[in-house]
Amino acid sequence: NKGSFEHYMQKEIHEQPESLTTTMRGRLIRGGSSKGKNVLLGGLKDHLMSIRRSRRFLFIGCGTSYNAALAARPILEELSGIPVTMEIASDLLDRRGPVYREDTAVFVSQSGETADTLNALEYALDNGALCVGITNAVGSAIARKTHCGVHINAGCEIGVASTKAYTSQIVAMAMLALAIGGDTISNQARRDAIIDGLFDLPNKVREVLKLDQEMKDLAEQLVAEQSLLMFGRGYNYATALEGALKVKEVALMHTEGMLAGEMKHGPLALVDENLPIVVIATRDSCFSKQQSVIQQLHARKGRLIVMCNRGDAASVCPGEATRLIEVPQVEDCLQPVINIVPLQLLAYHLTVLRGYNVDQPRNLAKSVTTE
Ligand code: UD1
Ligand code: F6R
Repeated sequence: NKGSFEHYMQKEIHEQPESLTTTMRGRLIRGGSSKGKNVLLGGLKDHLMSIRRSRRFLFIGCGTSYNAALAARPILEELSGIPVTMEIASDLLDRRGPVYREDTAVFVSQSGETADTLNALEYALDNGALCVGITNAVGSAIARKTHCGVHINAGCEIGVASTKAYTSQIVAMAMLALAIGGDTISNQARRDAIIDGLFDLPNKVREVLKLDQEMKDLAEQLVAEQSLLMFGRGYNYATALEGALKVKEVALMHTEGMLAGEMKHGPLALVDENLPIVVIATRDSCFSKQQSVIQQLHARKGRLIVMCNRGDAASVCPGEATRLIEVPQVEDCLQPVINIVPLQLLAYHLTVLRGYNVDQPRNLAKSVTTE
């Protein structure tokens, strides 16, 4: 049921404050005078000790689910101190990459039925790794075959382009990082700040959804473009990849998400006064590096659309022509949840304006059950 919305994708974008609330329901402990703030993931409690002892984490998924894992990687590395390797499921299988008994392999999948991810799971099980699922569909193959896991509880996602599952996956994996890092005193203040940030996140998503009309205006400006670039780094490298995936798969416009740190190693050659470029420059430890990326793109007359936190316009705006997307600021590791929303809205409006099928993009299926 689409309710008052015209498309499922639109409905699912706008229901993210609610889907995120259900993802967190019953899993966050606010703490009090005697008890500290905490995260409780029922599905992991019997395995948490062995997970903490693992030598390496492998994040395995496809498409949007891979991007969600990429967004959560830095906080898992920070809070656990354990290296995290990213694997696109098909590529791990193509290489038969080494997987060990001391590894924890985390399988991220909305449907829980994606063939590549499922085959990678069989492979990791054969190699003796501890296998953890981050899934939406209860009773799905990946949820059943993993040793343990976390249901993201985002509710049924109907639009082929994944939106609310993406933000719930990031939150579920941030909670995973908090649970794994929960045995050390040294990061308690950081963990408390993230937990407070999680409680407030649905409200912040509600705020950023107010950019809907602004994103529609931006889509009108970009509707006839041939291509689009998106630059991000750190926590928001994933935002650039996922924003680009949304635009290409539904609006059928060639869009590339790129690591800003790689800009000078090739992509800069593409920059001219015609190609529109989205640069994500919200506040985190990479902010000053993104400021210099903006300066360099501006120096080459790049057509810039800069995403920044409210109040930062003057710090990121090199010229009159720069277009801004101002978003509310949240804890750095949660900022990808906020930052993807305007890009989801942009992809949606571009698709409608370009006259393509929003919920059923050409050649794509919701659940890819063959390799
Ligand atoms: C569970 C119940 C939830 C109930 C709550 C009350 C289910 C599906 N969930 O939620 O309805 O309100 O207890 O305490 O009945 N799992 C995997 N792989 C996955 C995902 C999950 O193996 O990819 C396993 C988990 O390890 C766990 C079970 O499935 O054993 C349920 O997971 P989850 O729904 O996340 O657990 P709870 O949040 O505790
Ligand atoms: C993009 C999209 C796909 C899926 C991918 C994995 O919007 O929907 O890239 O994310 O096919 O699907 P799941 O998460 O079901 O394993």
